[in-house]
Amino acid sequence: MAEPEGRSKKARQAKADNGHGRAPGEDTVARDDEPPISVVPLIGVELESPQPEPAPAEQGPQAAADARRERLARIARLYAVNAGTHDMHAAAAEPIRRRAVAALELGEGAVVVDVGCGTGLSFPALEQAIGPGGRIVGLDLSPEMLERARSRCDKAGWANVELVETSIEEADLAVEPDAVLISFAHDVTQSPEALANVLGQARPGARVVVAGAKWAAWWAPGMNSYLWTLAAQYSTTFDGLARPWGRLSALVPDLRVETLLFGGAYLAQGRLPAGR
Ligand SMILES: C[S@@+](CC[C@H](N)C(=O)[O-])C[C@H]1O[C@@H](n2cnc3c(N)ncnc32)[C@H](O)[C@@H]1O
Repeated sequence: MAEPEGRSKKARQAKADNGHGRAPGEDTVARDDEPPISVVPLIGVELESPQPEPAPAEQGPQAAADARRERLARIARLYAVNAGTHDMHAAAAEPIRRRAVAALELGEGAVVVDVGCGTGLSFPALEQAIGPGGRIVGLDLSPEMLERARSRCDKAGWANVELVETSIEEADLAVEPDAVLISFAHDVTQSPEALANVLGQARPGARVVVAGAKWAAWWAPGMNSYLWTLAAQYSTTFDGLARPWGRLSALVPDLRVETLLFGGAYLAQGRLPAGR
């Protein structure tokens, strides 16, 4: 989808939102002001290179465009294969997904964008929050995942869901959403272009909630080997899994992060600034 001329892609500054407190079973609740973690020891293996290759953007615009095309094609291939098993594997994450939707603080009639909506697992909770007068825009590049999302909507009789087959990097929202949800879409949270594009189109003050998997504590190797399997199956990169919300911090400055499941999952929430 083409970007409209003159639309600002700059993420907006955010104001503090001290929303929710610590809940039982959480490992940490903190503002996102810790130093970045670049290397994570996991079962004796370094998962992120201490001396990374130059980013494609530093190699020139053509190389960056080629790298992006190749990355998006890899994501599409992954989900063409995994669409049929996704819901079964994702079932265990349902409590986190519901909690992420609650953190959006949606009211009746709200417009919410589900970024990398997949098969629409978050739709039931979103529908409950916004009611028939609200609107869900589900964005995803995978036709196989969207086909399942469409059939979920048809079965439930939801007439207020718009599904758009697009990369998040190129998505052109026809609306200014009140809230943005990114759940279990590691490839999106690691794409600066995707984040800047979608958050740049949300309304000033919009809620932003991101949930997903991350490397657990070093003393939870069972959890980490499970995450390794899932990450290899459902995302194109292991990069950023120590601190997957890292790229969001610049865009949502008041980002508040909770780690869950012995550090194996996280929920990050904040608000875009009220003014541009
Ligand atoms: C693991 S699924 C999660 C689906 C859903 N959010 C959930 O919570 O179950 C990740 C989804 O993000 C989509 N996705 C990942 N990167 C994307 C990108 N750059 N542009 C569009 N969709 C993307 C994939 O196609 C996939 O459907």
